Order: sequence, then C-alpha cells, then structure tokens
Amino acid sequence: MHPLRAEGAKMLDSGLSVRRQHSNVGEEEDGDDESKTRKGISVASRITQQITRIGLAGQCLAVCLFFLFVSLYLHTRNGVCVSPLPSFTRMSFFGIDGLDSEFGSLGVPWCRSKDGRTVEWTKKDLLKGLEEFIPIYETRPIKNNQHGMGFDHSFGLWFIARWLKPDLMIESGAFKGHSTWVLRQAMLDAPIISLSPRHPAKYLAKGPAYVDGNCTYYANKDFVDFGNLDWKRVLKEHGITDPSRVLVFFDDHQNELKRLKQALNAGFHHLVFEDNYDTGTGDHYSFRQMCDQFYVRGGGHSCFRDSDEARLRLKRKKFWEKAVDIDELCGPGEAWWGVRGEMRDDFSHKNKKISYPEHFQNSRFVESVLDVYWELPPVAGPSLTHQTRYDPARAPDPIVEDGRYGLFQRIGLARLETSVFNGYTQMVYVQVSPPPESS
Ligand SMILES: C[S@@+](CC[C@H](N)C(=O)[O-])C[C@H]1O[C@@H](n2cnc3c(N)ncnc32)[C@H](O)[C@@H]1O
Repeated sequence: MHPLRAEGAKMLDSGLSVRRQHSNVGEEEDGDDESKTRKGISVASRITQQITRIGLAGQCLAVCLFFLFVSLYLHTRNGVCVSPLPSFTRMSFFGIDGLDSEFGSLGVPWCRSKDGRTVEWTKKDLLKGLEEFIPIYETRPIKNNQHGMGFDHSFGLWFIARWLKPDLMIESGAFKGHSTWVLRQAMLDAPIISLSPRHPAKYLAKGPAYVDGNCTYYANKDFVDFGNLDWKRVLKEHGITDPSRVLVFFDDHQNELKRLKQALNAGFHHLVFEDNYDTGTGDHYSFRQMCDQFYVRGGGHSCFRDSDEARLRLKRKKFWEKAVDIDELCGPGEAWWGVRGEMRDDFSHKNKKISYPEHFQNSRFVESVLDVYWELPPVAGPSLTHQTRYDPARAPDPIVEDGRYGLFQRIGLARLETSVFNGYTQMVYVQVSPPPESS
C-alpha cells in the first residue's frame, strides 16, 4: 500500500508497463491446405459479387461499416484505449510516417527500482484525470508559459500531487509561478514552499504571474538553494513530522544526482523531476541519462558511424527537433553518456567531464535507492497534438494514442492550442529511500 494513499492499491495496467504489444490480429496463416485457399477465394468472390449487386450506395455503406467496426474495436478493448495492434501497424494504418520506428527495437531506457515496484495508478486513472484536468488548465492565469511547463507536464504534476495527497509540497524553480498554481489546483489547502532566485511577483509588472497565498517563498534576497536549507527546522516550522509525507518538485535545471542525494539527506521520499532529459540532450544530468546503460533495454550506445543505430538516428533527426544523431550524441573519445561525456549542471553553467565507470557507478547508486520510477507518458500521440519536438520512439506510449481523434476530442484535448503540447521531456516521478546499508 502506498504510504500516502489510504485507498486500495491498484496495479499499473499492462498498457503502461508493456511498451510494445504484439498480437496476431491481422496475421494470416500460411498453409498449403488447398481447401482453405479455395474456400477463401470463393468467399471473397461472393462478397465481390454482392458488392457489385448492391451498387455505389451499398459500397459506401459497406466501407463505412468496415471502418466503424475497426474503430469500435480499437476504441473499446478493456475500456482503456489499448489498441491490439503493434504501434508500427497502427501508424501504417493511419498513414503517418516517422511516428514510431525500428528505434523501438532499441527500446526506451528505464531506471530499475530495487524491488521492481511500480505506481498504483492505471492508464484508466490517467484518462479520467485528463478529463478532469483539462477544464482546470483552461483557467490557468499564465496562458503563455514559454520557458516553463506546457500541458503534458502540468497534467503530470497535478495528477501525481492529487494522487499522493501530501501534507506539504515543495518546489524548486518557480519562474512566473505556473507550477505553483498547478500544485495549488491539486491540493487546495496544503502549504507550499517555493525556492526560486527571483520571486514570481517580480514578473507581474510585465504580465501574468501567480503568487500563492499559502506559500512560503525563499526568493530574491531570501533565496536559499534546496541543498542549503535546514529542512529539519523548516519542516518543524510547518508542523511536518514525517518527511515521507512531503512531495518535492524540481524544475530548477540542476544535476538530478545532486538533487537526489540532497533529498535523501533531508529524508524526502517522493520526488518529481520536470526535465528528465534523454541522453545527449538538456542542460543537466538526469535520471534518464544515468540509467542509460548497456544492461538496460534501449540503453548503452555506440559511436560507430556505420551502425544501424547511427543510420536510425540520422533518419529520426529529420522528423523530430530533439532527436540527436551520432555526431551530437558522441563527444571526444567516443563519450556518449550524459551529454557527450559530461555531467551537466545548473543550466549547463557547471559541466563536469565524467568517465564511463563513474557514469556506471552513478546508475548503480540510483538503483540502490529507487523504490519506484515512473515516467509520465505524453498525453497524446504526435499526430493528434502536432508536437514536433520529442521523438515518440524514445518515449513511453502516449495516454491517448495516435489515431484516437474521437477520444482526443471527447475528453477536451482538441480545445487546447497546439503550442501547449510542445514541451514534453519525460517528467519523472521517483519514490526513493536510503540504500540498504545506510538505512
Ligand atoms: C524552467 S524555470 C521553472 C518553470 C516553472 N516551474 C513553471 O512551470 O513555469 C526554472 C526556474 O528555476 C530557477 N532557478 C535557477 N536556479 C535555481 C536554483 N538553484 N534553485 C531553484 N530555482 C532555481 C530559475 O530562476 C527559473 O525561475
């Protein structure tokens, strides 16, 4: 049972934990049983004769019925929008190129948790949450949050906070206050602590910003970095006796390994990192990067120019802005880990070269403290959102899959302007506890 939730535990449904499903739907048996073949031909010719007989109107009706049947089949399985077809088949079916790819054969890197535990919520919960959150999001005070969170991550943060129901929420990196507003929508009465060098009120002179009435700001001259605050004292001041009932949200572009160690020292268990950058991208070392190791499916890379991966990367780069080819992936000495062999920190102001053994040790440390690792899936497939940034082949399957326009429209996603879908960077929720030897 989750420590922050009294309600019954649910298992993450297979739609989320199994990335690419395979099915036999549409596969024909190859046999040389003549009677079967003949039967097939005669049924086909009978159908053709019937269609010819019923004329143009009838043909239209037949085609419509066929698509209605396929659409109903795709939409209603288990009530959770899981298509029985593998992704590449869906893509070909809808005639969209470049969405998914053989890159899937490389997989999507994933951090392994200590006991393989995962989150309680299911895809169905996420869909229900989406339906609830969209009208809330439409009332946001900061309509244009460029350089801050877009829709996907706003939903993710709101959903996680609302599910966990923490006693206190901490955010590091507030900008104009959009994420503070999101946290407030999730928990109307819980106190918030916000750490950011510049107070969101400072942005008010130039346009919309959000300042919360029940939030303690460490900003402007009172700014203190998360790693330097006396959390024991601050929690006591807020009447919090159990740090495992606190949710910490990081959107401050700092090395996530550094933040993880600081959070563990303070006794926090529930952490959300906004920008969980993929290997070769971003301005700080991330969980995604740390867990990108040879022994993880989709992890470990080669800088060999004449490899399948190099060719695939080049192809993907043409479709997706944030996809990286082998030249961008690899730094001096063929260092591909982190960003070209660097552990980036503080908006790329403090970068440190690290060796592969160091990078490997970092992942071992992460695995030794991880109880749960969950990447927020994109809210909807790129053919629906029209996002052009992240490569869907390097992300979990979206909550509303490509081709599900009816659902996309029905739950209200079609009402949002497309620019709000352009900021997905694999936000991650982790549940952590000290490594066994030090607990
Ligand atoms: C990407 S913005 C945050 C966006 C915000 N969460 C939102 O959703 O709109 C990053 C913020 O982190 C702040 N920042 C920079 N260094 C920081 C630090 N050491 N601790 C906390 N915040 C920091 C920046 O000033 C900036 O406001």
